[in-house]
Amino acid sequence: MDIKKPIRKAVFPVAGLGTRFLPATKASPKEMLPIVDKPLIQYAAEEAIAAGISQLIFVTSSSKRAIEDHFDKNQELEDELERRGKYDLLEIAKHIVPDGVSCVYIRQPEALGLGHAVLCAKPVVGDEPFAVILADDLIDGQQQPCLKQMVNIFEKQQCSVIAVEEVSEAETDKYGIIKPEALYEGVLKIKNIVEKPAPDKAPSPLAVVGRYLLTPAIFNHLEKIEKGAGGEIQLTDAIAQLLKEEQVLGCQFKGTRYDCGSKLGYLVATIDYALQHPNLREAFKEHLQGICKNL
Ligand code: G1P
Repeated sequence: MDIKKPIRKAVFPVAGLGTRFLPATKASPKEMLPIVDKPLIQYAAEEAIAAGISQLIFVTSSSKRAIEDHFDKNQELEDELERRGKYDLLEIAKHIVPDGVSCVYIRQPEALGLGHAVLCAKPVVGDEPFAVILADDLIDGQQQPCLKQMVNIFEKQQCSVIAVEEVSEAETDKYGIIKPEALYEGVLKIKNIVEKPAPDKAPSPLAVVGRYLLTPAIFNHLEKIEKGAGGEIQLTDAIAQLLKEEQVLGCQFKGTRYDCGSKLGYLVATIDYALQHPNLREAFKEHLQGICKNL
């Protein structure tokens, strides 16, 4: 990239079937599963917006219409809340997407993998750096949202940045795994990356979690790569090609990640977020303390 361009666009691959949550996901998208009172996809959108992103690009499929409806205006609901004088709820319903932020929807016609989903967004992303957010990975960035921490690195280094965290040895075959070299505190140079290696083949315990900032050069590689792990076009494989010609950094973000693609991770996130919720915290804590005594 010769000219410095800010990150303005985020791609949300949301075409997956979510079979791990059946029957809940038979007719509604897994990204619409709520953590307390907000769907996963809205947490992801809010994280993007907090990092300065103004265009949300959803790569969807036919069973995901609820996502479009969620980010659209619902006049009937707004009229009804106004009529009933429920102004707090009206504000929530009205401002799911803040002014100045737009949503674009692209269909992924076939489930050919994460890399293919990202490639489907190329006509809208164009020739500029962009973010990819996997809503399954919910990240509580505590002091600063994870994507914002990554944008800070991008602004200094002007190269692709990927969020990473340590996983147990038994879990390397669930993630993209990097071979790192220390650069400075919290930032690693990625020397190599492999998709879902068996524990004895993993180059480190550092796994990619669902946040990427990518330069548009990734599209050249996505167009060329063959099917990889699981018979899918893997984003990881395109990144492995990209890092042969450009620097790619790993960000050891500060915060807690919840794997909401798994039932256990989803439940843990629900408990932690409920314990942070201003209206629920006290009553819920009391309930948990009661249960814990009898466990
Ligand atoms: C995808 C990526 C993988 C990454 C993971 C993070 O895998 O392919 O490299 O580590 O997301 O959640 P998936 O979870 O879709 O199997």
